Amino acid sequence: MKIGVILGSIRDIRRGGRVAKWLMPQLSKFKAVEIELLDLKDYPLPFFNESNSPEGLKGEYTNTVAKKWSAKIASMDGFIFITPEYNHGTSAVLKNALDWLYYEWVRKPVAFISYSPNAAGGVRAVEQLRQNVIELQMAPLREAIHITYVLDTLDEQGNLLKGHFDERLVKLMEELLWWANALKTARNEALNT
Ligand SMILES: Cc1cc2nc3c(=O)[nH]c(=O)nc-3n(C[C@H](O)[C@H](O)[C@H](O)COP(=O)(O)O)c2cc1C
Repeated sequence: MKIGVILGSIRDIRRGGRVAKWLMPQLSKFKAVEIELLDLKDYPLPFFNESNSPEGLKGEYTNTVAKKWSAKIASMDGFIFITPEYNHGTSAVLKNALDWLYYEWVRKPVAFISYSPNAAGGVRAVEQLRQNVIELQMAPLREAIHITYVLDTLDEQGNLLKGHFDERLVKLMEELLWWANALKTARNEALNT
């Protein structure tokens, strides 16, 4: 079982880095699952500019970064998206990374962790993302963590300064792994019939 944690902000001073630094050690407590941080800084995709949609391209990307992104996402069984909120939606860089692929996402679950420097916690970005991923035939989970006042909650090293998310993270992971396992089994059965 492989879970990809996608960090959806690439700014040099991104606050999403605090969330990833806090989250990854927490996730290492979940055994029997391989968890990898997928930093969009490592996948500098251009804005989607292929001549056909990813559904039509069927994996035949011309862009070399897209090929690397495609192989990585295809190897995963489920995802956690760490998303900021930019103008009540997710970041352009995360939406673009979603738009670049199709089959690689299909029938895989995704849970969301959002954050913001205010009381909103990025919840509106997550609501939009849930709609976006349905079009990719993903299974968006109800479980989510919305980190409010992120600058007061996590320091630059990812240390938790206030609040506690342990129970919500366990619930989120239980659901994510249930769906990842169920859908992986179903995908494999479909391949063998
Ligand atoms: C272009 C832009 C739009 C933003 N829009 C919102 C918004 O709609 N709601 C909100 O709560 N915060 C908004 N913010 C504040 C971000 O939540 C905050 O800057 C956060 O740290 C961004 O994540 P990052 O630092 O990981 O890039 C916005 C920030 C930027 C740069």
